Amino acid sequence: MSTPALFTDPAAWQARCLAARREGLRLALVPTMGSLHAGHASLLREARRRADAGGRRGLAVASIFVNPTQFGPGEDLARYPRDLEGDLATCGQAGIDLVLAPGDPAQVFPPDHQSWVTVERVSQGLCGASRPGHFRGVATVVAKLLNLTRPDVAIFGEKDWQQLAVLRAMVRDLAFGVEVVGMPIVREADGLALSSRNAYLSAEERGRALALSRALFEARDAVAGGAREAAPLLARARARLEAAGARVDYVEVVDPLALTPVARAEPGAVLLLAALVGRTRLIDNLVLP
Ligand code: PAF
Repeated sequence: MSTPALFTDPAAWQARCLAARREGLRLALVPTMGSLHAGHASLLREARRRADAGGRRGLAVASIFVNPTQFGPGEDLARYPRDLEGDLATCGQAGIDLVLAPGDPAQVFPPDHQSWVTVERVSQGLCGASRPGHFRGVATVVAKLLNLTRPDVAIFGEKDWQQLAVLRAMVRDLAFGVEVVGMPIVREADGLALSSRNAYLSAEERGRALALSRALFEARDAVAGGAREAAPLLARARARLEAAGARVDYVEVVDPLALTPVARAEPGAVLLLAALVGRTRLIDNLVLP
């Protein structure tokens, strides 16, 4: 393991990435908000693998930036977990060469920032309905990171399924010319999907949070047994969450790319959940068999 080179200045980062591209190196980028866990580590290792896929060691890079523009008023921006030292160690272990971690949000969004990326249809509904402006903030910061880095490939986690759909639409519609790769959710042994926000859960809440993955697994088993009507699947999943005292934000079965609700869970449809456990908003999803 070696420690990645740390860049705090986006302009210096852009110059370094440009120089690498001019040398003909492949670049693989993992954008993150830090507080890296084993789910992120799988993205970072994939970046290493894909950067080297050209038969020559490329450049595997990651960004760590808690993007203020994707948090709404009253959300957890101020208390979002931060651990730059630990994150750099995780990046080093995964073979990441360079890390961009702007020290000050104004380096990314200076006071005169006034350009925004809005991805229309797939940003509406689901998390977009309860977090207005969230996906505009995500799309804008990712567009900026892609322009600063100009990677061949950008890697994201499938836990944020709607985010991935938004970013795929943005990259396609605006011809970013980058390959977008989604990586499967990493779960704890008992099923809980890894998330930086799990750090907010008390031991008692963590126990109740298992209702999300259990609801998904139960639906998967029902679908595998032939029960493909969405309405009863959704009712069961909702009841399981409510029985655990979780406040349901949404439970939906959707088309995997358009994110429109479907009446029957055909293979590949995605069951998406969002619920509050205590004050912590958790999301999870599962691609149905
Ligand atoms: O998934 C995340 O951690 C963030 O939404 C992202 C993609 C890094 C943009 O800030």
